[in-house]
Amino acid sequence: MTHFNGTFSPPGDKSISHRLALMSILASGNCYVSNCLPGDDVKSSLKALETLGGSYETDDYIHVKITGLGGQTVNQAQIDCGNSGTTMRLISGILAGRPGQFILDGDQSLRKRPMERIAIPLRKMTGQVDTQNGTCPITINGQSLQGIDYKLPVASAQLKSAILLAGIQASGQTRITETTMSRDHTERLLKQMGASITQNNLTWTVEKSNLTLPDTFYVPGDPSSAAFFLCAAAIFRDSQVVSKNTLLNSTRTGFIDVLKRMNVNIDVNQIADQPEPVGDIHVNYSSEMIATQIHEEEIPSLVDEVPILSLVATQAKGKTVFKGVQELRVKETDRLDAISTQLNKMGANIEAGKDTLTIFGPTPLKPVSELESFGDHRIAMTLRLASLLTETYASIAQENCIAISYPGFHDTLEQLQKNA
Ligand code: S3P
Repeated sequence: MTHFNGTFSPPGDKSISHRLALMSILASGNCYVSNCLPGDDVKSSLKALETLGGSYETDDYIHVKITGLGGQTVNQAQIDCGNSGTTMRLISGILAGRPGQFILDGDQSLRKRPMERIAIPLRKMTGQVDTQNGTCPITINGQSLQGIDYKLPVASAQLKSAILLAGIQASGQTRITETTMSRDHTERLLKQMGASITQNNLTWTVEKSNLTLPDTFYVPGDPSSAAFFLCAAAIFRDSQVVSKNTLLNSTRTGFIDVLKRMNVNIDVNQIADQPEPVGDIHVNYSSEMIATQIHEEEIPSLVDEVPILSLVATQAKGKTVFKGVQELRVKETDRLDAISTQLNKMGANIEAGKDTLTIFGPTPLKPVSELESFGDHRIAMTLRLASLLTETYASIAQENCIAISYPGFHDTLEQLQKNA
């Protein structure tokens, strides 16, 4: 019987690693980043920095010395954002305010994702940002910007960050209001880099600022990566795992609250607070898991954990409902379709609605020989664990996409099973 046992350190947080690379386009100075995520997505952001005239040195993409550009970008560039929505959306806000012409493109998946959501507010700031029928390639003719007062129509940290990064280059104030708090890593880093930024409940206000990189930055472990093994421990009999040095920012840990409500044995031990809360998370196998309701306001704090939480819900007693998950339809793939079609193939009972996901449990999963990840890293990791739960090894199409966010996933999978 497969079970997971032992301690692991998840790779550096993807969102924070991206922001260190991308904000270095505007910030001056050098930063020694440790525990950077060596994933393909972050490499796209580091390459973008280089294409624009900045530089970085690294042997392993985990220890990275970044030299900031202080806004002195080349005035013409084509940037390949690969699979990364974070790279494309944040860099759009940055380049809207830099003089020159920039063309942003990406892979087949990125070419399907909505980009007008960032172009609209950037145009309101007098930016010249053109999409191709709402998607990339995006053409930006960078110029002086004006501040705006903007209420986010979608709960998206990428959208919020794009406007914040344009706002610190704009004349006047830029005020952004969210309906639900989304991850605040850009705001924390802006503060740390010396920007003029204030918060009043769900409203952030920024003004034109010069940014300076911190000399060093340790990136905490990614809770969205840790979640795979923490959730695995909950559903694989006799498991017990600890995720060390994991980011505990409350805008990211909604999955912990959901697991607690499901009766999962989970403990959190915070060990540091600044510049981001960090600590260890313990999970034990939980035999009496129950279903729960996940409300729309919770979704931003667990948006990337819906696939793996859905797998957990297949093993919990009752009807689990995720509400307000329409954003999952425009991630790296349509995740609501991917979760329901692939797990249902294995005997799960999942209904995907327009903006809901309903899971009836518990359902034993049965072996299948072939599964499809649709090139989506979080779907691929969820399916690898689902397949293991059946004590078989399904072939998962495009499984190598896991390297986008968790290049060491298979090593940790093996290591935690050996310890068992
Ligand atoms: C991210 C924000 C989220 C998340 C993505 C990373 C970020 O996307 O799904 O993996 O780093 O800001 P949205 O902001 O579009 O919800």
